[in-house]
Amino acid sequence: MINLSPLQEARLGYKPKLPRVLRASMENIAVTLGEATESMADQSRLRELFPLTYGAPIAKFIKGTNSTPPNPRKIGVVLSGGQAPGGHNVIAGVFDALKKVNPRSQLFGFKGGPMGIVEGRLLEITSELINAYRNTGGFDIIGSGRTKLETTEQFEASLATCETHGIDGIVIIGGDDSNTNAAILAEWLKKRDSGITVVGCPKTIDGDLKNRYIETSFGFDTATKTYAELIGNIARDANSARKYWHFIRLMGRSASHITLECALKTHPNICIISEEVRAKNMSLDQVVDSIVRIVVARAARKKDFGVALIPEGLIEFIPEIGRLISELNGLLAKDAEYLATIKTFEDAREWVNHELSKDSSHVFSSLPRQIQMQLLDDRDPHGNVQVSRIETEKLLIELLGARLTKMELAGEYHGRFNAIAHFFGYEGRCAFPSNFDADYCYGLGFSAYLLLSTGLTGYIANLANLHLAAADWAPGGIPLTMMMNMERRHGELKPVIRKAMVELDGAPFRAFAGNRERWALETCYEFPGPIQYYGYDKISETSTSTLKLEGGGVTEGI
Ligand code: FBP
Repeated sequence: MINLSPLQEARLGYKPKLPRVLRASMENIAVTLGEATESMADQSRLRELFPLTYGAPIAKFIKGTNSTPPNPRKIGVVLSGGQAPGGHNVIAGVFDALKKVNPRSQLFGFKGGPMGIVEGRLLEITSELINAYRNTGGFDIIGSGRTKLETTEQFEASLATCETHGIDGIVIIGGDDSNTNAAILAEWLKKRDSGITVVGCPKTIDGDLKNRYIETSFGFDTATKTYAELIGNIARDANSARKYWHFIRLMGRSASHITLECALKTHPNICIISEEVRAKNMSLDQVVDSIVRIVVARAARKKDFGVALIPEGLIEFIPEIGRLISELNGLLAKDAEYLATIKTFEDAREWVNHELSKDSSHVFSSLPRQIQMQLLDDRDPHGNVQVSRIETEKLLIELLGARLTKMELAGEYHGRFNAIAHFFGYEGRCAFPSNFDADYCYGLGFSAYLLLSTGLTGYIANLANLHLAAADWAPGGIPLTMMMNMERRHGELKPVIRKAMVELDGAPFRAFAGNRERWALETCYEFPGPIQYYGYDKISETSTSTLKLEGGGVTEGI
């Protein structure tokens, strides 16, 4: 039994703000459907792969008459992938919408992620249960999992689960991969004439499930606020003690949205953006050079301290290391069994060095032992190098230290370099959702229910105009096929939702790039402090700088 903290007790009573349209009684919310749509690329191939759901129109909910009969429904909901603040509120939104239409309707939660659908593990979400989770972080109400729903056997088993329990609609709360799977499941269930509809919801702290229509994924706001608070505290410590450089790696898998948002909030001295490293084709040496320049320039101003932000995915975006990782992935997949028989790290290193191409072997040998071990030891379930586990911040500190020692000996640097490494990721994934995420998620849950009850399938719930007050958000649904293209995955061309990377010509990056030199040399830290749930609206009701700068929708993608 979890004891309730005073904040948790208070948050259970928070009433999320719904868009004005969704506050009406359900008979007064109508759906309007636009023109047929196209996918963002590879239209003919996607039309072939999704003959029944491709090209569906964009749906919008507006004031009007809802002609759907309020029959009782049974809906299943699943949480997929990494935790993101607000997941419980999506479920609360679906629950409240469904009960508002017909109190005899039921909501079920599939336990432990997508495997819960396949294996028929589910529980009924009662009002007592959901009331204990409103506005809380975490996914613990039903748990989550990373299984991909993609095989016919899994789809057959999912259909059997739904038929056994009479479930006629599924809400999949997940990131780009889970929503891709939602699209495939929707098509498959339609082909089977099952009458079961599937709708997704955009979740991920990484912020990389977005486009012109999905303005942000939920969880990004709370997670970045949490990290920015910690970074601000560290920056203040650095500025007080004036003796440490803090290297902070931030979660976000491949895209650098989290790092960029935290930089906009805290004004660090150094912030690396992976997408820029790739665009400029920067080598590891050049990345190190760019940091050395700032450390040396600050030392010359008697500032032997600073804060550097490093995105989790950086290492893969450095071309020579990206190539090394892809060679290692091939090698580890091909000779996994042989490698498993090698007992010592030294022997494994020798074998790998022998098998790699000359260039990659050179890069591998130049890396510190600790990083070599991480490259060989940490694998994901597909056997690939687990890039997110590689401690890039420590790698940079080590390379930087070596470079500065050389410069010192050559009389080119006269400072002291004491560095401390940090990694922030899990600290932000289950925080109490900010008011923005609490409201956004609750509204997404309502929209998801409305899409299902209208009979729409293969959609993702959306709320547009997020830069405005919650009352003015515009609810609706976007056909998932519209957000898809074909990409090579594990050697095969597959239909996937395109991940949004940081756009170097986008407003958030430009705002950062226009200030970074000043932030590097002067000390301009901003201290955001903790998330505020009550009090001044100016603090408690604001969302991310990214969203504000994008002003309602990114241009990349669709
Ligand atoms: P999702 O893409 O599933 O939302 O997860 C995001 C994330 O938090 C990444 O930022 C991170 O690299 C990864 O999950 C960590 O995964 P795990 O929870 O399996 O350690």
